Amino acid sequence: MQDIKSIKIFDTTLRDGEQSPGASMTIDEKLRIAFQLEKLNVDVIEAGFPIASEGDFEAVKRIAQTLKGPEISGLCRANDKDIDCAWNALKYAEERGRIHTFLATSDIHMKYKLKMSEQQVIDTAVAGVRRAAGYTANVEFSAEDAARTRLPFLAQVVEAVIDAGARVINIPDTVGYTIPSEFGAIIRYLKQHVRNIDGAILSVHCHNDLGLAVANSLAAVEAGAEQVECTINGIGERAGNCSLEEVVMALRTRHDILPFTTRVNTEHIYATSKLLSTVTGIMVQPNKAIVGANAFAHEAGIHQHGVMMEKTTYEIMTPESIGLTQNKLVLGKHSGRHAFNQRLDELGYSLNKEDMERAFVRFKALADQKKEIFDEDLDAIIADEIIRIPERYKLVQMNVSSGSFAAPTATVEMEIDGKLRKAALIGSGPVDATFRTIKKLTKSQAGLLSFTVGAITGGTDAQGECTVRLELDGREVLGQGAHPDIIVASAKAYINALNKLATVMKKKASAHF
Ligand code: KIV
Ligand code: ZN
Repeated sequence: MQDIKSIKIFDTTLRDGEQSPGASMTIDEKLRIAFQLEKLNVDVIEAGFPIASEGDFEAVKRIAQTLKGPEISGLCRANDKDIDCAWNALKYAEERGRIHTFLATSDIHMKYKLKMSEQQVIDTAVAGVRRAAGYTANVEFSAEDAARTRLPFLAQVVEAVIDAGARVINIPDTVGYTIPSEFGAIIRYLKQHVRNIDGAILSVHCHNDLGLAVANSLAAVEAGAEQVECTINGIGERAGNCSLEEVVMALRTRHDILPFTTRVNTEHIYATSKLLSTVTGIMVQPNKAIVGANAFAHEAGIHQHGVMMEKTTYEIMTPESIGLTQNKLVLGKHSGRHAFNQRLDELGYSLNKEDMERAFVRFKALADQKKEIFDEDLDAIIADEIIRIPERYKLVQMNVSSGSFAAPTATVEMEIDGKLRKAALIGSGPVDATFRTIKKLTKSQAGLLSFTVGAITGGTDAQGECTVRLELDGREVLGQGAHPDIIVASAKAYINALNKLATVMKKKASAHF
């Protein structure tokens, strides 16, 4: 009989994931994702980098105050100010609060970024861990760029920080450079050469620059790593991080040769993935493993025939195992509150009474315009109506005339800082006229990076779904809007992006590392 080891899942969607371009989230959005991660039953949620901004600090604090299940981690550099700030946000989670401090250990980072000698790096790391351990026993140390660090030096750093009180040692492949055989060998080397290695949990954190983050994490687990750091949908810096759903489902599906378990409730994977896409506007590609729209679709006739005879001919895991149910048509105009609440619950949204009522009113209005309401429509209602950010700008009403003869003209009325304003402009098309008018009313200097229009479901009565990406002073935001009229959906997306920008610009400038 093989020993079955439990692997801890450390989710960093709200920290490393949020470092993806355009993935900035408000505090309420982060809290919503954190609740869903709690449902998913991850072991640790990395809620943010408290010193980076006031928003990050508040988000970590609110999550530490509110969630009762998972451990809550906050990232900090190895200096007193960062560590004190992290603990001030984390202390509400008491012993579940984890200080995660880090320092780079590779030659290239020490020489060019830190300008420190090996001895200075060891001393700084040890001092940081000691300071953190003065607050809590729950201390994690990450050797940034570990995968490119000389192994004897990495072993020396790891041994010293465990002696100083680190209880979790994280080995990041910060730049996504390693390959599975090499990364497995690094973990084995540390197991063999670090005297006190049994005093800490060994963790890995892989980036996906070569598309190997999941493979590298699995190789590390086989070599003895006990914690995997990952993100929902694999979002994160550059090409992203190890994808939570892929690593968890690989361990579950290939349990025959990977004798490991996790505590993740896999039936909540799909809802979590959808919620993150809704909140950030970052959609997953259709062929993305596990959660892509085509991940369980069988197109070729020969495959469809096989699946009809016996599912396992072409299906290595069931859609139900990730919470993907087949009853996609959900509700219509006669559906009542009970059916509506139940479906939202199944989709992973836990709304309070007031939000539920607002969403229900919006659902009824849509059901009057559109015969069939699909899950995707419900996602759009939640994104539009509930996942709100402070609204400096509000659309009151609009009218657009266009066609093959008339000059496209938009008349828009908005409430701006509580005051009603109205303007009308022409443009090269109805969307251009609308955006120009909104820009005039709001006096926005933001540049438009991209604009997309799609239909949420099929049929000519489908809701239009628009996204608008704006940029101002190096900050990028993504706004979304949905409405059966695509010009109104475009205006809502533009205004949503302007509101996000207003919120983001209020936050204090971030610290960089
Ligand atoms: O990629 C990385 O090295 C990190 C660490 C700070 C853990 O995100
Ligand atoms: Zn990282």
